[in-house]
Amino acid sequence: MADYSALSKEELLALVGKLDAQKKYGLVWEADRTKEVFEADLHASIPFLSEVTKNNLVLGKELPNNMFIEGDNYHALSVLNYTHQGKVDVIFIDPPYNTGNKTWRYNNDYVEGDDTFKHSKWISFMAKRLKLSKNLLTDDGIIIVSIDDYEVHTLRFLLDEIFGENNRLGTLSVINKKSGRSTDKFFATSHEYYYFYAKNADLASIGMMESSEETKQTYKLADEDGSYKWRDFLRTGGFSTPEERPNSFYPIYFDPKSKKIAIEKFPNAVEIFPIDSKGKKRVWRQTRPSLMKLVGQGAILIEETKSGWKVRIKDRIKMVVKPKTVWDSPLYDAATHGTKLLETILNKPRAFDFPKSVYAVRDALSVALNGKDDAIILDYFGGSGTTAHAVTLLNKEDDGNRKFIICTNNENNIASEVCLPRIQNVINGVVGLEEITGIPTNLFYFKTSFVQKSISLDETRIRVSENCHELIKIKEQVFETIEGNDYYSIHRSEVKTVGVYHSIDLSEISVLKKKIQKFNGEKVLYCFTLDNFGLNLEEFDDLSNVRLEPIPQSIVDIFEGLADV
Ligand SMILES: C[S@@+](CC[C@H](N)C(=O)[O-])C[C@H]1O[C@@H](n2cnc3c(N)ncnc32)[C@H](O)[C@@H]1O
Repeated sequence: MADYSALSKEELLALVGKLDAQKKYGLVWEADRTKEVFEADLHASIPFLSEVTKNNLVLGKELPNNMFIEGDNYHALSVLNYTHQGKVDVIFIDPPYNTGNKTWRYNNDYVEGDDTFKHSKWISFMAKRLKLSKNLLTDDGIIIVSIDDYEVHTLRFLLDEIFGENNRLGTLSVINKKSGRSTDKFFATSHEYYYFYAKNADLASIGMMESSEETKQTYKLADEDGSYKWRDFLRTGGFSTPEERPNSFYPIYFDPKSKKIAIEKFPNAVEIFPIDSKGKKRVWRQTRPSLMKLVGQGAILIEETKSGWKVRIKDRIKMVVKPKTVWDSPLYDAATHGTKLLETILNKPRAFDFPKSVYAVRDALSVALNGKDDAIILDYFGGSGTTAHAVTLLNKEDDGNRKFIICTNNENNIASEVCLPRIQNVINGVVGLEEITGIPTNLFYFKTSFVQKSISLDETRIRVSENCHELIKIKEQVFETIEGNDYYSIHRSEVKTVGVYHSIDLSEISVLKKKIQKFNGEKVLYCFTLDNFGLNLEEFDDLSNVRLEPIPQSIVDIFEGLADV
C-alpha cells in the first residue's frame, strides 16, 4: 500500500478529490494501460475505403446492394459514421469471446488466460467499437451481441453503460450444443447468451416467433378452424381464488344426457363448482357471459372422470408467440448448422472454428427487425459471414430487400478464404443446398485504407477530397461509376446520379454541371471548397433540381469528432 504519511496536506486533498470523482458503481478497467497500437496514430490519419472491384458481384440493378468491408472494424466503423449514421436497423455481432485459448489477438498478440490485463484489454477493445456503432443505429434500432460465460458479466456492464440499462430488451440463452461440451472441467456448457439492446426502448419493437415444433405437437386435434387441444377450464396458480376473482366463481349446470350446459339451474342438471383436486375453491377461466359465448361456439366440453366432472375449453394453437428467453431448437445447433454447413458451402473441412448456426442468427435478426423488409443489417465481427447468409435467407422467405454490411479483418485469411467465398457461394448457389443458397443479391467489396493528414489543414482537405469517392458512393448508395478523371467522377443508381468534383482546380466544374443536369431522377453534386461555410450558392445558380453538398470539411469533421472515442 502507498505511504500516505509522506504526502503533504495539498497532495492528500488532491488525492481525496481524485478518489471522490471516481466511479462508485459499474465497470472499471485499465483503459490507459490497454490502448491499441493504432490509437497513437488516430490524429495523424483518416480512415477511408478502397473498392476491390474484382471481388464485386453485381447481378441486377433491382437487387439489394450489400457491402463487404475487409479491415479492422474500428476503422470500418469510423468510415460508417460518415456514410451510415442513424441508418442501420439492426446490428448483430459475435465478438471474440476472450477464452484465453489463442482465439483472440490484441495488438497482434494472443491474449492468454493468465494475462492480468485480459479483461481490461477486451473491455477497451469492445467499448470503443460499441460506442462507434451506437451512432449508426436508427432511432428504433436494436443491437444483438452474442457472448459466452467468459465475458458475459463485463459485457452486461458495458452495454448498460453505453446503451442504458433501460434499453436492455432481453438476455437470451441460446442452446447451441444440447449435448454439452464434454471437454469442460465441471459443467458441460450447452448454451451461449444473446443480449438485445435498443437504442431507445420507447421506440423499439420486436417481432413474434413461430411456435416450436414441440408445442405444435401437443395440439393433436383439428377442426375446420385449425389445430386445438382441450385444456382445463379451472384456473389454478396466481389469481385463481374466489376472493381474487369473485365474478369467476359460479356453478355450471350440465345435463349428461342432453349435453346441455347452462349457468342457471334446470331439471336433471348436475352442478359443477370450480374446486381443485385438493378440494380448494378456485375459479373458472372466464366469467358467466364469456362461458355462454364459448358454449355457443362449441368450445366447452364437460366429461366425467374418476375424480369427478371436468370442464374443458378448446385451446387453439398460436402459430406465433412472444419470443422466450431460452431458445432451444435443433436448428440452433452450431455444429450442424454452423461448422458442417460451412464445410458443405465451401467444400473444405474446418474452414473456421466458430461459425454460428445460420438459423439462430436468422431468427435473432427476424425478431429484432419485426417485419422490416427494407432494412440495413450490420455485423462488424463478420467471421465466416453467417449474418450475411442469414440476411439472404430472410429475403428469400418474403422477397425482401434487406441489405447487409459485413466487416471482418483478414486474420488467418478469414475474409479472403472463408467469408467472401461463402457469400459468393450463397449468392451463386451450391448443388444440394438449393433451399439456402442461390439467392441473388449484389455485393460490393471494400478494404480499409488511410490518408495521412498534413500539418497544413488545406493540404489535408485536398487529400481527403481526392480520396472520398468511395465514401460518397456508399453514403448516397450509387455503386455504378460511369465516369472518372483527375477532376471529377460520376456515379449512378436506378434512381440517382451523383457527381463528385474533388479537385482544387475548378476549371472543369462547368463541364460536370452540364453533365449532371442532363440526367433524369434525383441529382446530387458534391463539390470541393476550402471554405468552412460551404459552397457559394450563387456560383451554382445555373443548376436546377440538384442537391449541393460541400466537401471535404463535412468528412474531416466527422473523423475529428471520432478520434477520441
Ligand atoms: C467469433 S468470430 C465471429 C463468427 C461469426 N459470427 C460466424 O458465425 O462465422 C469473430 C470474428 O471477428 C474477427 N475480428 C476480430 N477482431 C476484429 C477486428 N478488430 N476487426 C474486424 N474483425 C475482427 C475475427 O477474425 C473473427 O473471425
